[in-house]
Amino acid sequence: MSMRDDLKEILVGEEEIKEICKRLGKQITQDYKDKNLLLVGVLRGSVVFISDLMKEIDLFCDIDFLSISTYRGTKSTGELKWKKHLDTEVKDYDVLIVEDIVDSGFSLSCLTKILADRGAKSVKTCTLLDKPEGRTVEFEADYVGKVIPDAFVVGYGLDYNEKYRNLPFVAILDPKVYS
Ligand code: IMP
Ligand code: MG
Repeated sequence: MSMRDDLKEILVGEEEIKEICKRLGKQITQDYKDKNLLLVGVLRGSVVFISDLMKEIDLFCDIDFLSISTYRGTKSTGELKWKKHLDTEVKDYDVLIVEDIVDSGFSLSCLTKILADRGAKSVKTCTLLDKPEGRTVEFEADYVGKVIPDAFVVGYGLDYNEKYRNLPFVAILDPKVYS
C-alpha cells in the first residue's frame, strides 16, 4: 500500500509550489528590505514550506518556531492550545508568521494578536494555501501562495492524523480515508 493510493487528486504540484515560493520570496525580500525580519514557522505543518520559502528571501533574517493546536481530524475545534512557545523575544522584530494553510482563520488571527501584544514591531502572515470558504473569523493573510476550494488536503507539510506530510506536493485526500 502506498500513501498515494489515499489521494483523490494532486491540487498543487511540485513545479507550481516552486513558483509560489519564488514569487512570495521576491515580494518579501522587497517588503522587508529595511526591516528586522523574524520568520516564525507554525509547527509542524509549515516546516516544508518555510524551508523552501526562506531560501528565496535574500535578506538577513532570523527563524523561530512555535507550536499550537486548534485542530482535530478534519474539523476545527476553535480552541488554541500552546504546545511550544517561541525562544525569541519578538520585541525588536518585524515578525512574519508562516503557515501551511488558513481555514477558519482562527489560528492566525489569534497568533497575530498575541505576538503584537508581546511588542513585535510589526506582525504579518504568509500562508501557502488559503481556503476562504472555511472562514468563521474575519481574517486575511498578507501573503498567499494559492487559494484553494474547501477540500481537505495533505502533503508538503500538511497532515491527516500526522501522516502524509512528506508528500512533495499538495493533494486532496480521498474522503474514504476519514469517513
Ligand atoms: P484555522 O485555524 O482553521 O485557519 O486552521 C488552520 C490549521 O488547520 C492549519 O494550520 C492546519 O494545521 C489545519 N488545517 C486546515 N485545513 C487543513 C487541511 O485541508 N489539511 C490539513 N490541515 C488543515
Ligand atoms: Mg497547522
